[in-house]
Amino acid sequence: MNPRKIKEKIHWMGSIDWNSRLFDELIPLPDGTSYNAFLLEGSEKTALIDTVDSKFFPELEDQLKDVVKLDYIISLHAEQDHSGSIPAVLAKYPQAKLITTPKAKEILLDLLEIDENSIITVADKETLSLGDKTLEFIHMPWVHWPETMVAYLKEDKILFSCDLFGSHIATTDLFVTDEARAYEAAKRYYAEIMMPFRLMIKKHLEKLAPYAIDIIAPSHGPLLKRPAFILDAYKDWIDGTLKNTVVLPYVSMHQSTEKMVDYLTSALTDEGVKVERFNLTITDIGKLAIALVDAGTIVVGTPTVLAGPHPAAASCAFLANALRPRTKYLSIIGSYGWGGKTIDTLAGMIPNLKVEIIEPVLSKGSPAQEVFDSLQKLAKTIAAKHKEQGFE
Ligand code: FEO
Repeated sequence: MNPRKIKEKIHWMGSIDWNSRLFDELIPLPDGTSYNAFLLEGSEKTALIDTVDSKFFPELEDQLKDVVKLDYIISLHAEQDHSGSIPAVLAKYPQAKLITTPKAKEILLDLLEIDENSIITVADKETLSLGDKTLEFIHMPWVHWPETMVAYLKEDKILFSCDLFGSHIATTDLFVTDEARAYEAAKRYYAEIMMPFRLMIKKHLEKLAPYAIDIIAPSHGPLLKRPAFILDAYKDWIDGTLKNTVVLPYVSMHQSTEKMVDYLTSALTDEGVKVERFNLTITDIGKLAIALVDAGTIVVGTPTVLAGPHPAAASCAFLANALRPRTKYLSIIGSYGWGGKTIDTLAGMIPNLKVEIIEPVLSKGSPAQEVFDSLQKLAKTIAAKHKEQGFE
C-alpha cells in the first residue's frame, strides 16, 4: 500500500494485514487489522509516529523511500505490532532520535535491540516542534500497557491515539465510512483490549476533553473524522446504563445442560429479558466479549466433568474475570451425574467480578420438573433485579 494523504504534509503509512485471523495468538480477527504509522513533515523536522510489526517492515521501507532525512521516530506504545520495526528504521536513519515515555524506554530496551543513546524521553504534556507543526505528548498509561501515550498535533487538531479508539479492520478506507460496521469492530476491540482498564480510560477521556479534535488517528483500523462517534461510544461502554440482557455462555455434553439453557432462554424471554447465548464449543470469543460490555447478568451453563466445570466453561470464567465487565449479577446452571464442586470452582474463578451471585440451579441427571421450576424462579428473579436497577 502506498502512503495515503491525511492532510498537507501528513501521511498514513503502515500495513493493512488482510490475512491474520488471531492477534497475540488469542484475539480473533474476523476482518484482519492494520498497523498504522504516520509521517509528519514539518517545515524544519520530519517525524514518524510508530512503525509496524517487523514482518511488515519491507512495506514501510518502501513507503519511506522518498524520505531523505528522518529526525524523530515517536513510539506511542512499545508493543511489537507498532515498535517491531523501530530498530530497522533507526538503522536506515541513524541520526534519528526515538521519542517515547520513560516507562516505554525501559520496555523498548527490554524488547528490542536499540541504542539507549538514541532515545529521548518526554514528560506528560511536553511538546516537540517540527517547525510549523507542534506535537504535544499526553501520557495515557494502561491503554492497554503501562507505558502508553498519545500525541496531539496542535495546528491540524489530529489526535494520534495509540491503541485507544482503534478497531481491527483491514480496509482500503482511510477514514471510517460505515459507522455501523466501525461501531461493532470498535466495541469488539474495546471489550477485548480496553475494558479491563476502563476506570483508567475514563480518566483519559476527561483529560482529552479540553482538546479540540478534528481527526482521531488510532494505531489500528480506519481514522475517524467524527471523533464524537467514538468518544460517545466509549463513554457509553464505560459508564452507560447496563442492558436488560443475560449473557448465557454454556457447554453441554449429553443435552441435560442444554435443555436447561433452552428452558431458561424461553423463560427469560417471556419475562422481557433479552438473552445472548453462546455455545462455547463453537463461539467466537470476540462476540462473547462484546456481549459482556453492557450485560446486566451472566449465567454460565456447564455440566460437571472430572468433579468440576467443563474446561470450556472454566475457560469462559477465566476470560470474563480477566475482562472485568460491569455485569451486576451472575448465576450458574448445569447438570451433574453423582457429585463434584462445579459451583465452588467456578465461583472461585471470578474474584475480579463485582457481582451478586444469584442461587445456582443444578440438575442431577436429566432435568426434571422441579429443575424447570427453579429455572422459572431464576428467570423471574433476574427480571425483577434488572427492573429494580433500571437496566434498559
Ligand atoms: Fe496494537 Fe497494544 O498494540
